[in-house]
Formats: sequence, structure tokens, C-alpha cells
Amino acid sequence: MKMVSPSLLSADFGNLQRDIEMLNASECDWLHVDVMDGIFVPNISFGQPIVKHIKKHAQKPLDVHLMIMDPGRYVADFKEAGADILTVHYEACTHLDRTIHAIHDAGMKAGVVLNPHTAVCLLEDIVQECDMVLLMSVNPGFGGQKYIENTYNKVRQLRALCDRKNPKCLIEVDGGVNLQNAPLLYEAGADVLVAGNAVFKSADPQKTIHDMKQ
Ligand code: DX5
Ligand code: ZN
Repeated sequence: MKMVSPSLLSADFGNLQRDIEMLNASECDWLHVDVMDGIFVPNISFGQPIVKHIKKHAQKPLDVHLMIMDPGRYVADFKEAGADILTVHYEACTHLDRTIHAIHDAGMKAGVVLNPHTAVCLLEDIVQECDMVLLMSVNPGFGGQKYIENTYNKVRQLRALCDRKNPKCLIEVDGGVNLQNAPLLYEAGADVLVAGNAVFKSADPQKTIHDMKQ
């Protein structure tokens, strides 16, 4: 699968509705929504009220990436705000299995995110419960950072793990994705690419989305 999930973190927050409508009319598959708490990551972005407004205008599924400590506390809130896929960090959950079940019980798809330093093999006993695994290809917190090359290896390792334990699990990559590394990431086994700056800072965001899917 070759899917693109543009990150609204790089959108113009003063013209969010306009940017969401641009994405509605594009070939993108999902809208990637980055929630940050200023503790798990150094930055603060936005919370449930903004997600609710995004949902009002979006015509595609919301792929909500929670960069917050102990995200299990907010599963019901993000369901109510309109999340379709909820991804939580491996590093932020003490009882990850419980949190994934809570996401499923709330009626959403569940994803687990790994930071660049977290080994893929740690998913051995949880990947069978996941609809998606998101590999961070930058240290989370900010858009516009440089892609970490080791991510290709992690995608290949994760593809092998999924083939063995859960072939339906999607692989998503987030951070520093652009038109140069996108084909290599799909080739390594990625299904969904998140792109913030590469889409929103390009001269023609809809064309960039189209090109990324080729
Ligand atoms: C980073 C976020 C990303 C970010 C990606 O912490 O999780 O989704 O917005 O932005 P780019 O594509 O610009 O690296
Ligand atoms: Zn993200």
C-alpha cells in the first residue's frame, strides 16, 4: 500500500479550514494530527477542542498521533473528538496492552509508535494487537527536522516481524519524509508516510501528495 497522511502541524493554523479543504480535494488518504503535551515531548501543540474542529471539516480519517504521557487517560476524549486511528507511544505507556484494548473498545484503530532509539524487537509481544505501528524517523516534537537514515533498517525489521506475527498490521513512518526518501521507504515496506513540511511548504501541496504516492 502507498498511503500519505499529511501532518497538519505544518498547516497554517489561522487558515486551518482552508488547508483541510485543500487536503479533502487531494489524493491524501488520512489527515495526521499531532497532539503534544510539553512533557513527553518539549513542544505543546493542541488538544481535543482543536481536533473536534478539524473533524468538522475533514472528509478523510483522522490519524491522531498522541505525544503525551500516559495517553490511556484520554482515549475516550479523543474518540469523542473524532479520532479514527489513535496512536500512542511505546515509551509513554506503562500498560500498553491495556491501552490498546481501551482504544479498540472505544471503536478506533490502534497504533503503537516507537521513538528512533526504541528497538523494533520490543514489539514482539504486542504487534499482534496492533492495527498499525508508527516508526518515528525524527525525535518527536517538531516539524521540519532531518530524516534519520537508520529508519530504513527499522522498517525492514518491522516488515519481517509483521509478516511473521500480524501481516495485516500497517507500517507508518513520520518525520523528515520527502519526495527523495519516500520511494525508498515504500520499497523497504512502509504503507503510510506522514509528511508535514514536504507537503505544506511545497509550491503545490496537492501535486506533492500525488507525486509521493507514485
Ligand atoms: C513530529 C511529528 C510529525 C511532524 C512531521 O514530532 O510527529 O508528524 O509534523 O513533520 P515533517 O514531515 O515536517 O518532519
Ligand atoms: Zn506525527
